[in-house]
Amino acid sequence: MNRSELIKAYLDFFKSKGHAIIKSASLVPENDPTVLFTTAGMHPLVPYLLGQKHPMGTRLADVQKCIRTTDIEGVGDQRHLTFFEMLGNWSLGDYFKNEAIMWSYEFLIKILKFNPSKLHVTVFEGNKDIPRDEESADIWKKLGVNAEHIHYLPEDDNFWIQGTGIGPCGPCTEMFIDTGLKPCGPNCSPGCKCKKYLEIWNDVFMEYNKTKEGKYEKLKNKNVDTGMGVERALTILSNKDNVYETNLFLPVIKILEDKTGKKYAKFEKSFRVIMDHVRAATFILGDNKPVLPSNKDQGYVLRRLIRRAVRHSRTLGVEKGLLTPIAEHYIKEFKNEYPELAKNETLIITELKKEEEKFLETLEKGLHEFNKLSNKDIIASDAFLLYQSFGFPLEMITELAAEKGIKVDVEGFKKEYAKHQETSKLGSEQKFKGGLADNSTETTKLHTVAHLMLESLNKVLNTSVHQRGSNITPERLRFDFSFDRKMTPEELKKVEDLVNQKIKEGIRVVCKEMSLDDAKKCGARGEFEHKYGEKVKVYLIGEFSKEICGGPHAANTNELGHFKILKEEASSAGVRRIKAVLE
Ligand code: ALA
Repeated sequence: MNRSELIKAYLDFFKSKGHAIIKSASLVPENDPTVLFTTAGMHPLVPYLLGQKHPMGTRLADVQKCIRTTDIEGVGDQRHLTFFEMLGNWSLGDYFKNEAIMWSYEFLIKILKFNPSKLHVTVFEGNKDIPRDEESADIWKKLGVNAEHIHYLPEDDNFWIQGTGIGPCGPCTEMFIDTGLKPCGPNCSPGCKCKKYLEIWNDVFMEYNKTKEGKYEKLKNKNVDTGMGVERALTILSNKDNVYETNLFLPVIKILEDKTGKKYAKFEKSFRVIMDHVRAATFILGDNKPVLPSNKDQGYVLRRLIRRAVRHSRTLGVEKGLLTPIAEHYIKEFKNEYPELAKNETLIITELKKEEEKFLETLEKGLHEFNKLSNKDIIASDAFLLYQSFGFPLEMITELAAEKGIKVDVEGFKKEYAKHQETSKLGSEQKFKGGLADNSTETTKLHTVAHLMLESLNKVLNTSVHQRGSNITPERLRFDFSFDRKMTPEELKKVEDLVNQKIKEGIRVVCKEMSLDDAKKCGARGEFEHKYGEKVKVYLIGEFSKEICGGPHAANTNELGHFKILKEEASSAGVRRIKAVLE
């Protein structure tokens, strides 16, 4: 089974069980300042898991593009990837453990044709807050899973919550395939790190919301959230223990071998870094909300990925031009599920080339400097010099050092980096970890004011202004929009006044569900990136503003307070950024 076949089989299966197939969300999370990228299939669905109504119903399934950058250093071994696809099915207060487990079993045994005797599952053993999950164990038993194949494991293994440790969460049951390898010891189980049992799927029963204070509250609904990594599933299906040796990457190995004259077997690490990083970079550049290389946030992750790939092409003896043919391959391979890649093809290729050239200007000199410094361990200020003057990302410096058998003062570098960091307030560490949007009253109000502001910008600037991104914390709104010059103080004042006027008018905020076509017809703003035939939510603020949006929003504009713009500045070419608050 290849990748497209697996995705199709999964989505068809859940369609036959009454699920609406939704489109993968952007890699850049909407209104979630705590993470840089979408890290799991459930991530874009957090508002719905917390109780908002989803326009497509209570049974959903999709394949979601994801990025996890905590794994960036790990890339080069057999398993780690920065970009991956996650298959998932969700119940929003609809079915619960019984159907979820039954369908997981049916899909694994009937569709993927795994031998039932190879299936092992884990369930939550319970803790002081949450009871042992006997219900899931019983369902597995009824399906015919031998009691010896059902393993009770603690919170670390069988209680799922996002990286930040706040938000919708619950006990989970994970499915493993026994590879037939010898047990690593008397306690060998799916909980251990040896490769005997490979995890294929995770069903999470989300009935709790963990608050910032660490309390578990019952959610309004009992939800199901499942996740099956496409790459991992393909690895298991093809009886491999190495994702890079599946038919997902074999064609790329061939391209690299042809272009470099080098053999994968001899240069595994460089091959793997290039294959993974170029794939991630292609998806980030080619997102529905394209990101360009820069020194902050998502742009900096992208820069690090491209630069590390460039350095490894040099290891393979190719100075330039190795990345783009691989990107072209990925665009072809993935454009069916992600048409935005084809749409952004020129941008992807141009930006990859530009970043490569930019880095090549300093790479040689930087390597020369590195060689001068590296007869002993590298101190923080020298590492920072390599970063600042030659554009070497930290992981590249540590990697070069490791190749020479020396160390880098990483903690010292981070301190130095924090001192110099550009505008980004949130520590990059924190952002790379993964997290959740906060649905506090403050952020909800700022969501609503963002709609008023977008409309006001369109009216005051008297031209078509589009939203390019937004980032909301309880304290402030940061809003990017398309416009090609600095706004005048008069224009800013007019926007502020218009928003405040609409707040004073006390307009009710109404949510209507409609087809995408109807949303277009009624003149709603928003990214029309949804699938044909998909239902969307349109938030109406009287006659003033109509926008496609997932919500949540304030119920009336009179709840919002006083709106104030703090700053207007350039964000990137043709894009301006406003920082604003509600007082
Ligand atoms: N959200 C769950 C996971 O990522 C399904 O494993």
